[in-house]
Parts: sequence; structure tokens; C-alpha cells
Amino acid sequence: MKLFYSTRKLVSWRQSESGSVGFVPTMGALHDGHLALMRESMQNNDFTIVSIFVNPKQFNRQEDFDNYPNTLKTDLKKLQEIGVSAVFVPTMEEVYPTEDTYKTAKPGAFAIGFEGDFRPGHFEGVVNVVDRLFYWTNPNQVYFGQKDLQQCLVISDLIKEKYKDIRFNWIPTERESDGLAMSSRNKRLSENGKHIGQQIYANLFKCAEQEGVKAALDNCRNSIVSSGIDVEYLDIIHWNDMPVEPKTGRAIVFAGYLEGVRLIDNIIL
Ligand code: PAJ
Repeated sequence: MKLFYSTRKLVSWRQSESGSVGFVPTMGALHDGHLALMRESMQNNDFTIVSIFVNPKQFNRQEDFDNYPNTLKTDLKKLQEIGVSAVFVPTMEEVYPTEDTYKTAKPGAFAIGFEGDFRPGHFEGVVNVVDRLFYWTNPNQVYFGQKDLQQCLVISDLIKEKYKDIRFNWIPTERESDGLAMSSRNKRLSENGKHIGQQIYANLFKCAEQEGVKAALDNCRNSIVSSGIDVEYLDIIHWNDMPVEPKTGRAIVFAGYLEGVRLIDNIIL
């Protein structure tokens, strides 16, 4: 496994390889959800590049950035074990050399609403880092998790606008056996919190069975709230004509707080 801290070295290695490249961007603190994306990439490409970069521009609360787990050593061990080809860990200085060169990409319409409303500036931060990472890694295919559904829509929009040759893939959410979506934030939940957290998916699932009609959404919200979770939003997102399946689609999207930890989840209808 190659390990690159410098953009120049990564780019020169990339240019020297002629096979297909799959790319999985991450912020580290890797769990089985992340590894599922890498496994998929490894099955379908000659090389798989993983990036680890905790991107300050996408955190709308400084405190969340400061508390983001840094587990580089264990992350690298996991990546070595599953056998990815290269790991790219760029420095802050290389990603953001100056403040005025920060904005290289703009998020499209999918950045409006839901996460876009509750986390102002978040998607701007995401597209700007992903834009650089795509440019440096020059992948044939990229892999993102359905767990961050709106991010998938924003990124496939970026690809449509700027990287037409890249194939976008999204991978279903990996869950704990009780249904809680895997997330690096779950580490901050108590055992009881993890137990309560299973209510999120259980209720989204029930609501999806009723096609997310208004009454079902209201029941879903009430059950989640009565289990002790503060709902930030619970609604239906629509998309069409995107390079994601189903091309004309709908999903129930959820965000809320449990024990002060912000959790998101969704289910496709
Ligand atoms: P991060 O939160 O580290 O997630 C990296 C990728 O793993 C994302 O595509 C995310 O959707 C996926 N992922 C997270 N939890 C998952 C789960 N339970 N099942 C399947 N996939 C899961 O998302 C980011 O980083 C950043 O915004 C990034 C794209 C790296 C840009 O900074």
C-alpha cells in the first residue's frame, strides 16, 4: 500500500499507472461503512485510492471540527488489511494554501434544504474539497455512501457539471445489527443511547412501508421524539435525472440529536 502525504507524489504515481482507478474520499475514523465503499471499488477497479482529510471548511461548528476523532494509525492498519492500493493524506497547507483560492467549485441546487439549511456552508465546504481531490486523484469511478444521501446528490451534480468522465457510485448504508446506521459519531453515544438510536431506522422503515404519506411521517416523528431523540428534520427529498438509481426518486430523510450527538439517516422509497 502506497502512502502519500504530498499531492505532487500522489499525482506522479497516478500518472504512472494506466489501469482503472476507483476513489473513496473520507475523513478517517474508519468503520465498516467506509470499508464497504472500498471493497466495492476494489472489486471494480485495478487500483483503489482512499483519501483521509478532516476538512475544516465543511464543519459549521468549530467544536465539531476540534472534536473530530483522529485515528490515523488504526485507519492505516485497516486499509492495509483490506488491501487498497494507495492512501492520500494531504496536509492542510496543500489543500488550502490561501484563503482567496478556496472557492474552486459551487454546490448546485441539491445543497438547498435539509443539511444545507441546518449546516450553513457545509456543502460549499464539501464540494470544494471533493473538487480538489477529484482533480488530484483523477479517478475513473468514485464511491460515496447513501448514508449521506444529500451529499450523494450534490456530488453527482458536481460530476455532471465538471467531471463528466467520472462514474458515480453510491453504496447502501451499512448498519449495526439493530439497524443504527454506522457512523464515527456513534462512538460518542452511551450504551443506552445506542439502544435508543435503533428507533430511528425502525421508524423510518415503518414509514417507508406506507410510502411516507403525511400521516405516516407524523407518526414516525412522534415515535422518534417519544424515544428521547430531538428531531431536527424528517421529510421527503425528491430527485430526478441524476446519475443515481432510481433516477426519479424519493427518500425519507432524517436528522436529529441524541445525547447531544447529531445523527442522520434516510430510506429510499
Ligand atoms: P466521511 O463522513 O468520512 O464519509 C466518507 C464516506 O463514507 C461518505 O461517502 C459517507 O457517505 C460514507 N459512509 C459513512 N457512513 C456510512 C455507512 N454507515 N454506510 C455506508 N457508507 C457510509 O462524507 C465525508 O466523509 C466527507 O464529506 C467527504 C466526502 C470525505 C468530503 O470531505
